[in-house]
Amino acid sequence: MPQETAVQIMRKRIALVTGASSGLGREFALQIDKLPEIDEIWLVARREERQIELSARLTKPARIFALDRANEESLAVIEEELEAQNPIMRLLVNNAGMGSPGPFEKTDISYNDQLLKLNVLALVRLTHISLPYCEAGSRILQISSVAAFIPQPNFSVYSASKAFVMYFSRSLHQELKPRKITVTSVCPNPMETEFFKHKENTRLIDRLKSKGTEKIEKVAAQALHRSARGKDMSVSCFSARLIRILAKILPQHLIIKIIGRMG
Ligand SMILES: NC(=O)c1ccc[n+]([C@@H]2O[C@H](COP(=O)([O-])OP(=O)(O)OC[C@H]3O[C@@H](n4cnc5c(N)ncnc54)[C@H](OP(=O)(O)O)[C@@H]3O)[C@@H](O)[C@H]2O)c1
Repeated sequence: MPQETAVQIMRKRIALVTGASSGLGREFALQIDKLPEIDEIWLVARREERQIELSARLTKPARIFALDRANEESLAVIEEELEAQNPIMRLLVNNAGMGSPGPFEKTDISYNDQLLKLNVLALVRLTHISLPYCEAGSRILQISSVAAFIPQPNFSVYSASKAFVMYFSRSLHQELKPRKITVTSVCPNPMETEFFKHKENTRLIDRLKSKGTEKIEKVAAQALHRSARGKDMSVSCFSARLIRILAKILPQHLIIKIIGRMG
């Protein structure tokens, strides 16, 4: 056996999931646990005890990173571990995200900073440091949102951050085709997770949820299925697909006006 192939076999094939302590990220970890192509799952979120509880439910070995992803030093911790372990990154799920609806003027300035660091900067950086460990067949799932399709008054920073994720992912998908790496932008409708928990603006939240909520099980399953098929988008809900089509057909200023009136 050629030496290079022997080294290749010894390298662990990992899946790295951010935001694994609750909601969609936790569900991704549970579903990825069933994939034969993965040897080890790396979990990233701030709440360590939640990740310990999750790892106990997994059949595959898990490595837990209790990190604040909005903090720049967190990236260095993951980077060092990647260098030390030299794994094959078969799956990267950039899922951690935050957002809270409300008028921009009334949003705390530091909250917006945190949001952009987590939803945008941390996602781009983790993608960048992961790519040297990806190979043909590796898959990257970037969790965007239905909010990416239309600019959303009263959810402006969040929807802009998710539009960024979608545009970035689709460009990267094309760019990485020669390396046979798939990048899938996942755009769920509102889901019943901790995302909207303990948030003010219940009227706005109810409006956002009025188009229907999605089950995390379906969102994760469809996203994994679509990425396995080499697709760059995963929109698992009918109403989200409809919004996406309308956003393509109708002039944007008209849609924003309608949404603004509804809010
Ligand atoms: N729920 C929805 O309605 C909805 C709809 C469309 C898209 N999405 C997107 O789906 C993704 C998952 O959200 P979810 O609904 O599952 O919400 P969730 O239950 O609130 O989960 C968010 C995850 O992100 C982690 N996280 C938050 N801030 C973090 C930080 N600074 N550093 C590290 N990890 C952090 C949380 O872990 P810790 O708190 O332990 O750090 C948690 O595991 C997000 O990107 C969200 O924008 C959600």
